[in-house]
Amino acid sequence: MKDLLDFSKLDRAQLEGMLETAVVMAGVLERPVKKVPALQGFTVCTAFFENSTRTRLSFELAARRMSADVVTFTAANSSTAKGESLKDTIQTLEAMKIDAFIVRHGASGAAHQVSRWTNAKVVNAGDGRRAHPTQALLDAYTLKQKFGSLEGLEVAIIGDVRHSRVARSNAELLPKLGAKVRLCGPATLLPAELEADGVTVTTDIGEALTGAHAVMALRLQLERMSAGYLPSLEEYRETYQVNAQRMGKARPDAVVLHPGPMNRDLEIESVLADSGRSLVLQQVANGLPVRMAVLYHLLVGKN
Ligand code: CP
Repeated sequence: MKDLLDFSKLDRAQLEGMLETAVVMAGVLERPVKKVPALQGFTVCTAFFENSTRTRLSFELAARRMSADVVTFTAANSSTAKGESLKDTIQTLEAMKIDAFIVRHGASGAAHQVSRWTNAKVVNAGDGRRAHPTQALLDAYTLKQKFGSLEGLEVAIIGDVRHSRVARSNAELLPKLGAKVRLCGPATLLPAELEADGVTVTTDIGEALTGAHAVMALRLQLERMSAGYLPSLEEYRETYQVNAQRMGKARPDAVVLHPGPMNRDLEIESVLADSGRSLVLQQVANGLPVRMAVLYHLLVGKN
């Protein structure tokens, strides 16, 4: 596998293989010495042109747990601020013998471009509204950990679907693993073209939640909303907030997820986010073994 940009080239067996490797990596993280030599001699570069807490730090830690060398590039304090292009930046970094780039960028398709410009491996760590594959993988891992399998799971994804690369990647991944996805939000934030095999689209939150095993609230990406997508945040909260009362429509054992960062008491009720039904911090913890598995498969795996 040259890159992980999205899931279009991966079949169920490959995806399940990656999740199984993540279980092994989680075992490594339970040891007194949480480090293995698997990536000794490799250099991983996190190249972030957009802000991040979870993704960047967990990739850096994942690489270090496998003994890789790690360099961090952040656009704000680099020559990007002086006008250097993305292509020149990547080729400059590649000249320093980088083996894998972890790329986050505000433009949809940026990670694909980077992959064309470098012979190094490329992982898409979020490009515009297009894809965030390792977030979806860690979501799948978290659901598998909770329910044993994704086969037949009903997963409701609620909120700002329009701007969400997390929603798109989950809508691509979860059906490949046997789950069904219901995308839900106000009509202005819900592109109908996302309907596909295993993916339904509805503006009716009651319909989306009824009988769901898992409910994922999406962050309202107010920074990407130049047009008037919402009449008011108050109206959004009243109609689409994922809260304890609305969770009554889901299965009694249904869990709540959020990719973070959360707008507490906007798209998700704060008390629900902190409740026993919430897997939010488990998602963060699982990002580490999942990203270790991705780096392992890319850099030393056979497929
Ligand atoms: N979920 C996610 O991508 O979070 P960060 O923006 O903090 O990396």
